[in-house]
Amino acid sequence: MYMRKFLLFIQGFFLFFLTKSLISEELIKLPEPRFKSNISLEETLSKRRSIREFSQQPLTLEEVSQLLWAAQGITTSWGGRTAPSAGALYPLEIYLVAGNVKNLSCGVYKYEPKTHSLVKKLQEDKRIDIWSSAWRQPWIKNASILFIITAVYERTTQKYGERGIRYVHIEVGHVAQNILLQATALNLVGVPVGAFYDKALKKSLNIKEDPLYIIAIGKKK
Ligand SMILES: Cc1cc2nc3c(=O)[nH]c(=O)nc-3n(C[C@H](O)[C@H](O)[C@H](O)COP(=O)(O)O)c2cc1C
Repeated sequence: MYMRKFLLFIQGFFLFFLTKSLISEELIKLPEPRFKSNISLEETLSKRRSIREFSQQPLTLEEVSQLLWAAQGITTSWGGRTAPSAGALYPLEIYLVAGNVKNLSCGVYKYEPKTHSLVKKLQEDKRIDIWSSAWRQPWIKNASILFIITAVYERTTQKYGERGIRYVHIEVGHVAQNILLQATALNLVGVPVGAFYDKALKKSLNIKEDPLYIIAIGKKK
C-alpha cells in the first residue's frame, strides 16, 4: 500500500516537472521591428535620461520587440547585430522579465536573435525577487519590464584570453545604450541598474550565465 502510494507520488513528481519544462520552453515569435522613426538620433540622445518612475500602463509586444531588436537584433546576412562585438563572438544573452506587457504573460523569457523570438523560461512574475536582489530599488518592481543582460565570458576569452573580459564589459555598455536610446525614441522611460547581488539574481532567474546589468523600462508617468 505504502509502496503504491510512493510510486504514484514519484510518477506525479516527474509528470509535474516534465509538463512544466514543456510549457516553459514555449516559443513566441515577436512582431517585426520598424526601421523608421519620427525622432532623430540627435533628439533621442539629448532626451535620454535615467527615469525611475513609471506609469502602470502596460507596454505593447511591438515595443518589447523593438527594444530587443535594438539590443541584439540581427542586421546582416552573416549574423552581424545592432551592437558591435569583439571578433563577432556575441558573448551576451538577453533575458526579458515581463511583468506588465499587453498580450504577454508574466514570466522570464530569453531572446533568440536568429529568429527574433522569445523562449519562455519561467512562468512567474519575478520582479519582486529581482527587486530584493537589487537593494530593493523601487523602480525594479515598478517597471513594466526588466532586461537582464548576461555574459558567457568563454565565447570571447577563448579567443582573446584575459583581455576578453574587458571586451565583454565594453559590449554590455553598447547593448544597454542601444536599449535606452530605443526606449527614448519610443517615448518610454528607463534606468540602467548595476547595483545587485549576482548570486541572488542568478538564482531568481535560474540561469548559468553571469548577470551584468539590469535595464528597467516602462511607460512615462
Ligand atoms: C554602470 C551604471 C550603473 C548604474 N547603476 C544604477 C543603479 O544601481 N541604480 C540606479 O538608480 N541608477 C543606476 N545608474 C544610473 C545612474 O545613476 C545615472 O546614469 C546617472 O545618475 C546619470 O543620469 P542620466 O542617466 O540621467 O544621465 C547606473 C548607471 C551606470 C552607467
